[in-house]
Amino acid sequence: MDFKEVVAKRRSIREFKKDTIGKEVIADIIMEAGRAPSWVNAQEWKVFVATGHTLENIRNEFIKLSGEGVKGYADFDTTHRTSWSDQAQKNMSNFYGYANSLNVGARWDELENSFFDAPAVLFLCLPRTANKWAVLDLGGFEQTLLLAATNRGLGSIPAYNIVKYPDVIRKHIDISDEYDIAVGVAIGYIADTPINKIQSSRMTLDQFVVFKG
Ligand SMILES: Cc1cc2nc3c(=O)[nH]c(=O)nc-3n(C[C@H](O)[C@H](O)[C@H](O)COP(=O)(O)O)c2cc1C
Repeated sequence: MDFKEVVAKRRSIREFKKDTIGKEVIADIIMEAGRAPSWVNAQEWKVFVATGHTLENIRNEFIKLSGEGVKGYADFDTTHRTSWSDQAQKNMSNFYGYANSLNVGARWDELENSFFDAPAVLFLCLPRTANKWAVLDLGGFEQTLLLAATNRGLGSIPAYNIVKYPDVIRKHIDISDEYDIAVGVAIGYIADTPINKIQSSRMTLDQFVVFKG
């Protein structure tokens, strides 16, 4: 696929078909993500892939805890929306306003707690000792992973909701306490359903770029 097409086609997919993805395909995508740059080539990222029974077990516990109203407690702190910049708050509220207009809220809540029905979830981790530069590196890794998946015709979504109960993930996958589970990325084949019609907008250049010279 042409680079521009890959970038334009990548978007967050919130409902996947049940079809599984071959381990080799997942491995290839991860290898491509690993081409991301990092501080002195440190490559501090660590990836845990959950599929099959392991993923089902984690998923079932997430569904149960969410159903009981247990609040998320991801390894990375979350902050209240009001602590974000004014522009970010506007963007978030525009996105929620638009998404609400599509009337997919109830289904969204349901799917979020079941990892969007994805057949594979990748947990992207960093050592707890990692600094902000390493978080930046992991972001580059994440985006390259999403683009690599898109390039293969796969859908994907990075999500807080996939990592909101880290104890459950650690119970089923041996992720040491020395690692933060930063974010989860669900991948799979795209289901043709209303929730996948969500198409987020972007700021205009003048809202976030300063040209000088
Ligand atoms: C770190 C991170 C966490 C996210 N968490 C969630 C989530 O929990 N649930 C969800 O539906 N989308 C989540 N998203 C997806 C964003 O809503 C999405 O990237 C944004 O609206 C832009 O849309 P696009 O990815 O379709 O371009 C997350 C994205 C990022 C980068």
